[in-house]
Amino acid sequence: SNLQSRPKLTIRLCEPRGFCAGVDRAIQIVVLALKKYGTPVYVRHEIVHNKYVVEGLRGMGAVFVKELTDIPDDGQPVVFSAHGVPKSVPAEAERREMLYLDATCPLVSKVHKQAMRHMRLGRQVLLIGHRGHPEVVGTMGQLPDGAVILIETEEDVAQFEPADPAMLGFVTQTTLSVDDTAGIIVALQKKFPLLSAPSSESICYATTNRQDAVKAAAPETDLFFIVGAPNSSNSRRLVEVAERAGSRRGLLVQGKMDLPWQDIGPDMVIGMSAGASAPEILTDDILDSLRERFDVTIELLQTAIETENFPVMRSIRDVPLETE
Ligand code: F3S
Repeated sequence: SNLQSRPKLTIRLCEPRGFCAGVDRAIQIVVLALKKYGTPVYVRHEIVHNKYVVEGLRGMGAVFVKELTDIPDDGQPVVFSAHGVPKSVPAEAERREMLYLDATCPLVSKVHKQAMRHMRLGRQVLLIGHRGHPEVVGTMGQLPDGAVILIETEEDVAQFEPADPAMLGFVTQTTLSVDDTAGIIVALQKKFPLLSAPSSESICYATTNRQDAVKAAAPETDLFFIVGAPNSSNSRRLVEVAERAGSRRGLLVQGKMDLPWQDIGPDMVIGMSAGASAPEILTDDILDSLRERFDVTIELLQTAIETENFPVMRSIRDVPLETE
């Protein structure tokens, strides 16, 4: 074939992109549990929001269930997803004497502790997040029913009447839009000057870094592909960030089958990133299929270097005993 006849395409590839340390750890926990306990290993909810990952683990012997009631008492372990779980879930597992491994991301656990701390100090707790998302369900479920007030928008701030405006604290979902959340927090602080913030930011490093890179890459791009699943909160936020930062069109793609070929033309500049739950192989596949039709130049746009690594629990870690 004649390479020179192929139309040119520039891909502005964001770095960091894709898997975060919490997702990586959650997947490792399922894989190591399968290795230690054999099949099946039950997983409550999608371990991370990605079909490809879920199917891969299912192929290895993981069985995905909605609730603990769907699991028989067969002595096999159950893994809780990276998004975190309400307190009632480990309580139920203990009552049934189930062996469970909690793959909740440590940065989500930190938000749980923060919410409990607010309550311990007598504060009414506000959670900035999206209704129904498993992380929100998990965080609300750290406190008694009705104790956490969900704030989704600045309008919710205007509506909210606290029991005591001097005794208020907030936390946020880890995967929100940094800019939208800042707006809500400003509105809260304006209305409630005595509001207590978390002692450290709740939006996690991975969300912040992926949004920063997309923001830097977006200006003037004809298209912006975000590899991720429709139910992945952090991936959906990346599409919004791309469009707001000047891309003509942001698009969530689950894999190469979702590429809008009719809209991809010669000499376009296309941004690309991947949500925290999207494996790199999906990005690679997309780049490969673009290369089949175009002469692709990759511009790497790196805005941060990530070194975070969350180790799995000791009980399944594959380490030889150290000699002392
Ligand atoms: Fe954890 Fe953030 Fe990933 S909270 S699971 S590091 S997106």
